[in-house]
Formats: sequence, structure tokens, C-alpha cells
Amino acid sequence: MKLFNVFLGLAAALAAGGCCGTGGVNSASVLKYDSFNPGQVWLDDNGRHINAHGAGAIFDNGRYYIFGEHKLGGTLGNKSVVGVHCYSSDDLYNWKDEGIALEMSGDPNSEIVRGTILERPKVIYNPRTKKYVMWMHLEFRKGPTAKSADLKDIYAEKPDYSTARAGVAVADKIAGPYKYVGSFRPNAGKYPINGADGLRAYRAELEKDPNWKSKKFKGEERKKALARGFAFLRDFDGGQMSRDMTLFADDDGRAYLGCASEDNSTFHIHELNSEYTGFTGRFARVFPGGYHEAPAFFKRGGKYYMFSSHCTGWAPNPGRVSVSDEMLGEWRELGNPCRGDGQKKSKTVPVEAKADTTFRSQSSAVIPVRGKKDAFIYFGDRWIPEDAIDGRYIVLPVEWEGSGEGATPVIRWRDKWKIEDVFKD
Ligand code: DGJ
Repeated sequence: MKLFNVFLGLAAALAAGGCCGTGGVNSASVLKYDSFNPGQVWLDDNGRHINAHGAGAIFDNGRYYIFGEHKLGGTLGNKSVVGVHCYSSDDLYNWKDEGIALEMSGDPNSEIVRGTILERPKVIYNPRTKKYVMWMHLEFRKGPTAKSADLKDIYAEKPDYSTARAGVAVADKIAGPYKYVGSFRPNAGKYPINGADGLRAYRAELEKDPNWKSKKFKGEERKKALARGFAFLRDFDGGQMSRDMTLFADDDGRAYLGCASEDNSTFHIHELNSEYTGFTGRFARVFPGGYHEAPAFFKRGGKYYMFSSHCTGWAPNPGRVSVSDEMLGEWRELGNPCRGDGQKKSKTVPVEAKADTTFRSQSSAVIPVRGKKDAFIYFGDRWIPEDAIDGRYIVLPVEWEGSGEGATPVIRWRDKWKIEDVFKD
């Protein structure tokens, strides 16, 4: 990270009154935040910008934990060289560095050898096995330098997202160390619980051409084929793609992995087995042809919600929110949850206030605030792919428009805010 940015961020935080006390940066006792300052450098108890990108959040034994991608400086930081970084907090403003929960391996034959793309790690607790279970999106290293430990080679490898696997690791203690177990293309040879008849019929149609799997579609034809399940059927035997992902542990003991699948065109929600380390075979195809990335689930009342985004690489786009009565049920899009005047092209609205770029962020998690009724916090990444370690966090309250069954979660830009000022109950 550029030191300059750290300095600026700290200065801004101090000027904004976001952190109080005096003295040096490297001391937990003097650096204390009492508000969120979205988009600013956010220092941990060691005085370093929090390094947990694409994060997942969990509450455990009275503390909040986040797990995220430990990035490096420059574009090398978009590959995973160090591992999954964990932080904990008791007030959500101040975070203690808990270290690297899952380390990348030095073994060139490991699926998580240094330089692998490891994104959006999430952790849930399994009360039955008493294990913490981490899932992550993996893209293996490929090509002639795939087994080289040289950082120059890792740096030079072109990012390749064709692996599209979900990796899993387990630990006895929340902050790790996590032991890598393996990876999946989920639910090989299985049809979803919704729309299986249509998929079988489409398969019969496609199979009239013996070379159907290598068929190339263009434009509208491609959109239609993907929505009908072309990529699903293509990947049927080997298992379904799993890219941007999240986890959700429900209060009935069931847990789910939600992921961008079918060349990102269609979202899948897979029920996890009783260990949470594999699949039951029950899953749903959601929003066929809808291109959802950056999923983050939460539950309010009896309803399930999902923040997500469109697919535009590292560039931000308008956010999305969807609702369903069941995790594997009928999901319905509610539109862009971001409120505010900002329009992408407006010159008068500051860039961070633009509602149609999700305030220059992409969702990664939703954190339920303990002790407050229906209080949720949107946690998103403001990616800086050219200097990945400098990526910022956009942390904003989830508010509700309307009431009862039809209430819609919305997000508004705030330069600075406190939990107690927004969530009163
Ligand atoms: C958008 C995803 O949400 C990120 O996690 C990452 O995969 C980038 N695309 C890569 O371009």
C-alpha cells in the first residue's frame, strides 16, 4: 500500500473525528474509532489498513469476525500469495488483527499454492461437528509457470477464471489455522429442484447434434441458450461452475452456498451436507441469464434477502437486491437498493455518493448487528485492482422502505455514521 494513502486516511479519520486519542499509529490503545468512515483507510489494532477484501462476517462467542482476501500491492495483489486474513471486533468499528486464518501453500501441487486466485472467503460454524467451515472461490494456476514459486512468474500469469471451483477448509478455532480439505464443481450429475423438466427437454434438443458441447452461440442466441441452461448441461457431468460465492447458515441448522455459475449467467444455491463440507444434492437455479455476482445473504423476519451486483469485473455497477420466502425457493428481484441522487454521468455528485455504482462498491457481506432489532450493515469492496491492497471498504446501514411483508432494504451514502444514531431499537 502506498504509505501516502495510509497517512492521508489517518489524517482524514482524525480530522473527521472518526478516531480519538493521541500518539502513534501503532498502538491499539491510542487508535480508537467510534464511527464508520466508508471509503477511508481503516486501521486495525496494529495501525495497518484492514486487509480482508471480499470479506465474509460471522458472530461467535461475543465477537464479530471478518475473513477476507489478504491482498498485496500492485496488480500482483489480485492473486493470493499470503492467504485469508481474519480480524475480530466487539464493536464493529475497531478490529483486532487475528492473523492469517488459512495460509497459501508452498507445495506446487497444492490446489492453494501461492499465486492461486482465492476470492470471497466465508466462514460458518457447524454446531453439530463443532467445526468452523470456510468456503472460498478458487481459480487454479495454469500454464508453463504454474508450478513456479517465483513472484515474477506469479505476477506475469494472466488471470484465468476457467477453473470456477469452490474450495473448503475447516478449523477447530474460529481464527484458525484452517486446514484445506479440497474443492468442488458442485453437484455433478444432478438436476436442480426447480426447472429440471425444461433442462431435460433442452438437453434432448441439443443432443441431436453430437458435438453440441462445443457449440458456439453469439449475441442474443447466446443469451437465450445460457438462460435455457446450455452451460448447465455442458457442465452437468463434471459439476457446476462456482465463482463469486457466499455462505448462509440458517436458524434451522441448514446451510447454503450461493454462487455465480454457468459462465456467471445463472446463480446457484446449493444446500450443504450436515458437515457443511459438501452438498446434499438439493440446489436451485436462480435468475437464469440474470448475471449476478457479489452475493451476500441475510434474513429478516421469515424472508431471505440477497445483495448482489451485475458482472463488470472490478468496476462497480448498480447494486441489486432480491427476496425469497425460502432459500431454495422463488427469488424475486427488487431492483437497485441504493438511494440517492447520484447518476453515473453527473459531474455535481461526488463519486462516492453515486447510487448507480453502489457508491463505488460491490457487496461482500451483510452483518447483523447484535442486540438491535432488524439491524443490518452492508459491507462492500471498493476495489483498487491496480493497487489491490489499497482497496477500501464501504460500510453502510441497511434501512427499510415500506413496512411489513413488502418492506425493501435500501442503502444510502453517509460520509460517517454511528450504529446508535441509525439503529435506535
Ligand atoms: C468481480 C468479482 O466480484 C470479484 O470477486 C472478482 O472476481 C473480479 N470480478 C475479477 O474481475
